[in-house]
Amino acid sequence: MPGESSFAPEPGDSVFFEADSLCLIDQTALPTETVVLHLKTPEETACAIRRLAVRGAMAIAVAGAYGVLLGALAEAGGDAASMKNAARDSIRVIGASRPTARNLFWALERMGDALEEGDDDPSLLLERLRERADEIALETIEKNRLLVGAGQEVVSEKASVLTHCNSGALAALRYGSALGVIIEAHRKGKDVHVYVDETRPLLQGSRLTAWELDREGVPFTLIPDNAAGFVMKQGLVDLVITGADRIASNGDTANKIGTYSLAVLSRAHGIPFYIAAPGSTVDWDAAGAADIVIEERGPEELITCGDKVVAPEGTSVYNPAFDITTADYIEGIITEKGVLRRPYGESLKALLE
Ligand code: MRU
Repeated sequence: MPGESSFAPEPGDSVFFEADSLCLIDQTALPTETVVLHLKTPEETACAIRRLAVRGAMAIAVAGAYGVLLGALAEAGGDAASMKNAARDSIRVIGASRPTARNLFWALERMGDALEEGDDDPSLLLERLRERADEIALETIEKNRLLVGAGQEVVSEKASVLTHCNSGALAALRYGSALGVIIEAHRKGKDVHVYVDETRPLLQGSRLTAWELDREGVPFTLIPDNAAGFVMKQGLVDLVITGADRIASNGDTANKIGTYSLAVLSRAHGIPFYIAAPGSTVDWDAAGAADIVIEERGPEELITCGDKVVAPEGTSVYNPAFDITTADYIEGIITEKGVLRRPYGESLKALLE
């Protein structure tokens, strides 16, 4: 494999590339086991994304980028044309894995651009793809580092924060996004307590967010999703922060199913509701909610719980993986360029500069 990686993995990184393999912490095995998967093909990459072995908008973007590199590597030794075809096929296969997170397509488009830029020498082409994938990983990490710093302005010295799904290092590489803001507040010595929504049906809150907070020593309490309103009513929540999978150019935001309910509940209880996401989450071609495709997942996620069947055979199921919170419910969008405020049509443009 030509070219040295400029993305040097650190212990605990959820996605990295090593010795011609895409390495992922298998997020389906947590919190009981830490298993690292070693993937060799774009098909395996797409499958890992689809079954949520790697999940979270930014983690799947970085995994997707290296998955394209795997496709080109399979043609190493051949000519540039076959390598490019393999990379283009990989972009198609990985792009068909999950539709909602903008970051995945941001990364795949950049890998596609790298195919067309510069020399057609096969080893230079491979080097370019490797460099581009590393760049995507490093940029993701750096933007999140800035974002978690910028988010400190919304977290007071003493704060009780509610969050949903998982938006920490597992989902967003090293610093995380929404959960990263909360963990950074704790590291800075703020007196932070977190209410963690368990996040049905796949339990990213209890399996992953609770695991990350526990390792960081951040005090937290796990709640069923449907307790959020009651917990707010009891005055136990000062603010809500969640991540985002796609933000339309007017600020309408797709995130894990249940986020919209939290935003409405926050409004009803006078609690500020924030989104945290870097610029790579913004879909400039989406004018608003209607332009965002929401992934629907299979019925088995609802009719079974672990190995147990929990609904009658033949039950009709609707299982959207994400929902959309319209911009008017969002108090601020925490980004690498600071906390953006309404109207988002205007303020989001700061991310383009
Ligand atoms: O289905 P998932 O677990 O991939 O959903 C992830 C989320 O909804 C996160 O909140 C989102 O990706 C933001 S964190 C990078």
